[in-house]
Amino acid sequence: MSEPIVLGIESTCDETAAAVVQGRTLRSNVVASSMEEHARYGGVIPEIASRAHAEAFVPCVSEALAQAGLELSDVDAIAVSAGPGLAGCLAVGVSGAKALAWAGGKPLYGVNHVIGHIAVTQLQFGPFPKDTLALIVSGGHTSLLHVEDVARRVDVVGTTLDDAAGECFDKVARLLGFPYPGGPHIDRHARLGDPHAIRVPQGLTQGKAGAKHPYDFSFSGVKTAVARWVEGEQAAGRGIPVDDVCASLADSVATVLAKKAMHGCRQYDSGTLIVGGGFSANSQLRAKLLEYGRSNGVEVRIPELKLCTDNGAMVAMLGVNLVEAGVAPSDPGFAIDSAMPLTKVVM
Ligand code: KG4
Ligand code: ZN
Repeated sequence: MSEPIVLGIESTCDETAAAVVQGRTLRSNVVASSMEEHARYGGVIPEIASRAHAEAFVPCVSEALAQAGLELSDVDAIAVSAGPGLAGCLAVGVSGAKALAWAGGKPLYGVNHVIGHIAVTQLQFGPFPKDTLALIVSGGHTSLLHVEDVARRVDVVGTTLDDAAGECFDKVARLLGFPYPGGPHIDRHARLGDPHAIRVPQGLTQGKAGAKHPYDFSFSGVKTAVARWVEGEQAAGRGIPVDDVCASLADSVATVLAKKAMHGCRQYDSGTLIVGGGFSANSQLRAKLLEYGRSNGVEVRIPELKLCTDNGAMVAMLGVNLVEAGVAPSDPGFAIDSAMPLTKVVM
C-alpha cells in the first residue's frame, strides 16, 4: 500500500478533533474546543467535556472527511486516542471510532495520545531518524523518550518526579490570577520581563540529586519558590512585577528542559530532538531548545503551533506509522486506558 490514508480522532481532554493524513501529508484538520465552558471553573470539568465530545464528534469527523474530499470508504484505517486522558472523554471518542470502523469495515487503532504529540512532527520534518530522542511536554507529561521505532518501540529515559512543566505554569498562573489554562498567559508576560529578575531554582540539575537523576525533572520546587517569593512581596506591601516573575519562571523551566534534553542526545548519540505536547507551544522553551540545539549540533524538530496543542493530525499520523509498519489493528473490544503508559504505543 502506498501512502496510507488514515482518519485520526482525538477526545482525551477538552478538544474534539478529527483529521485525515495521507502518508506525510495533512489533508484536513478540524478542532472543536470546549475550553470556554471550563474557564469559569478554573480547570477542565470531565462531565462537561464528555458531553461536548458527544455533541461535536459527528460534525468534526464529517468536516474532516469533507475537507479532505473523501468518504469514509476511502480511508485505509481509523486511529483514535485510547489514552492517557479523562476516562469519560476517551470513552466518547473511542465508542464513536468503533462505530465508524464497524460500519465502514475499517481497521481501527487505539493509540497513545502522548506518542501522537511527537509523531505529528513528521508532517513538517519527514520520517523519524532511527533511534532518536524525544521530549514530551504536555499538560500532564514531561518526559524524555528514546524512540527506536515510533510504531513499535519507545522507552522512557527520564520523567518528572512531581509536576509536569505545563502543570507548574498553570499553578503559578492561578496564583497570579490568570484564567485557566494559564500557560499561554505566562508566555505572553514572560516576553516583557527580565528572566534573571528573581532567583528560581533549576530542579535536579546540581549536586547529588542532579547526578542521581540526570534525565528526570522536578518542577514542584520551582512552583513553591515562585509562590513564596510572591507571598513575601505581598506581605511587604510591594506590587508584584508580573512580567519579571513570568520571565524568571519561564527561563528556569526552559533552561532545565533544554539542558537535560541535550545531555540525553549526547548520551544516546542522537543528532535530532523531536519535541511535542501542548507546552511545546511555549515561546521561551522553543527559543531555548533551538539555541541549545545549534550549539550542540542537534537538529530540534518542534512542530508549528497548531500542531502542538491537541489535534487529530497527531493521531492520524501515528495511525499511518502503524499501518506502514504492518502492526495489527486493535482488538474490536479494546478498552480505553486513562493512564496509558508511554511505552505502549497502541492498544
Ligand atoms: O498537550 P496539551 O494540549 O494537553 C495535554 O495533553 O495535557 O497541553 C496543555 C498544556 C497546559 O498546561 C497549557 O497551559 C500548556 O500546555 N500550554 C502552554 C502554552 N500553550 C499551552 N504553556 C506555556 N506556554 C504556552 N504558550
Ligand atoms: Zn495533549
